[in-house]
Amino acid sequence: MSTPHNAANKGDIAKTVLMPGDPLRAKYIAETYLENPVQFNTVRNMFGYTGTYKGKKISVMGSGMGMPSIGIYSYELYKFYDVENIIRIGSAGAYTDKLDLFDLVLADGAWSESTFAKAQADVDGDVMYPSEDLNKKIIEAAERVNKKVTCARIHSSDVFYHEDNVDGHEEFYAKHGCVCVEMESFALFHNAKVLGKNAACLLTISDSLVTSAATTAEERQTSFNAMMEVALEAAIS
Ligand code: ADE
Repeated sequence: MSTPHNAANKGDIAKTVLMPGDPLRAKYIAETYLENPVQFNTVRNMFGYTGTYKGKKISVMGSGMGMPSIGIYSYELYKFYDVENIIRIGSAGAYTDKLDLFDLVLADGAWSESTFAKAQADVDGDVMYPSEDLNKKIIEAAERVNKKVTCARIHSSDVFYHEDNVDGHEEFYAKHGCVCVEMESFALFHNAKVLGKNAACLLTISDSLVTSAATTAEERQTSFNAMMEVALEAAIS
């Protein structure tokens, strides 16, 4: 059995999947953290692997960028591969000077202007929510590995490059309470909800729309490793 976008057979994928946006991050995670990783997907280079972490079966797969992309991959994982939990691990741009580069943010809701939920299941509403259970596991894992995590509402945006006539980050922060921006979680949380599954999103602040500060590639790698420690601990708990 396979899907149009995933060559895996049923049983190849663990109940819990970590999803970075970049498939090369999935490769890095599999090769760095998992024991005996086996690659289950190369279709469109959206790499996916299953291995064990501290003896427990875990999978990792790229989601691509944006809601249509994570919408496809997460739907197939939940619906056709019996995946129960997806933890997105990504980066985000800060909307407030209360967040510094490298801070960890755990989404407690994702606001979006996206029509994904309406188009996918005729669902109204501009905020989608993660699994409370998964979030609790992530918070407890962060405490165990001694990492500070800020729980807050995030913006899942459809647009990376805006023209100047569009309201900026001040509006998303002041009006909708979003502390940072990424581009996937609203669709992931929606898919989890309609399919009765669990989703969460843990982010590292990689840039600031307030100060224009940004991280270097090397810094992103180091901070990514810190986030991975939390995500992997949560995934096996
Ligand atoms: N992910 C990381 N930084 C981002 C930004 N500034 N906008 C959207 N997604 C992001």
